[in-house]
Amino acid sequence: MNNIIEARGLTKLYKGGVLAVDNVSFSVREGEIFGFLGPNGAGKSTTIAMLTTLISPTSGTAIVSGIDITKQAYQARLTIGYVSQDLAVEDALTGYENLRLQAGFYHISKKEAAIRIDEVLTMVDLKSRAKDKAETYSGGMRKRLDIACGLIHRPRLLFLDEPTLGLDIQTRREIWKYVNHLREEIKMTIFLTTHYMDEADSLCDRIAIIDRGVIKTLDTPANLKTALSAEIPGATLDDVFLHHTGHGMREDSVDKESAFRSRNQMRRARG
Ligand SMILES: Nc1ncnc2c1ncn2[C@@H]1O[C@H](COP(=O)(O)OP(=O)(O)OP(=O)(O)O)[C@@H](O)[C@H]1O
Ligand SMILES: [Mg+2]
Repeated sequence: MNNIIEARGLTKLYKGGVLAVDNVSFSVREGEIFGFLGPNGAGKSTTIAMLTTLISPTSGTAIVSGIDITKQAYQARLTIGYVSQDLAVEDALTGYENLRLQAGFYHISKKEAAIRIDEVLTMVDLKSRAKDKAETYSGGMRKRLDIACGLIHRPRLLFLDEPTLGLDIQTRREIWKYVNHLREEIKMTIFLTTHYMDEADSLCDRIAIIDRGVIKTLDTPANLKTALSAEIPGATLDDVFLHHTGHGMREDSVDKESAFRSRNQMRRARG
């Protein structure tokens, strides 16, 4: 099977001295759902930012869709869809208008945009609400619109940074359904981060666990659990995660969900 991502010694040292990602190498196979797990501040979003060419690595590189991200960032970018950790939809615009705006960023012609908007709206089941402003959408619908925006240029590879954070279990399941659909029907490769272990366990073909900028382990959920079963009979993915990352509290992990919720409330209140 081909590798759609080959990270080679990726390193990010932020100004101010934080070594967020430390010489990380791994591959993602074409067509798989790849889970990238780690505690708060582990370096997940920073790794995604490098792979999507939003920031440059301090050293190392990655080959994405066969293209070196440090040499041909723009070309690599065209093969990638990216849905950030924070909601990016414009509340004052309708679902349709949000997508048209996104199509504009990729210089997709008006005629072609109409076809693709219809396509992605169908994909995320939002066709009937396309003419309504995003501010009238539920949390799950907004996230689906966010995902649709990431799909408008038909990427081969989609990055979803915490696609289900702060959503209720029903809505999380709904998002899983769409993620699976993208993989099964569209044959898209999906790279996702999540803090929900049940989600990673049921969705991901393979999982990497990163902590303090270093990849601790990488395998299928089943193999990761089996490897720990001598030590912890019936080990769950939670056990695997704690085993590789330790039990200590990290950064803002307690307040993260509430911070996310209040940020969204503020956005809505601002209108
Ligand atoms: N722009 C920046 N400048 C300086 N330091 C940063 C910057 N962005 C992130 N960091 C630091 O880099 C480290 C990794 O952050 P990153 O956002 O990649 O973590 P993460 O695994 O995505 O965490 P979370 O689960 O909270 O989203 C953290 O210590 C963070 O404080
Ligand atoms: Mg993050």
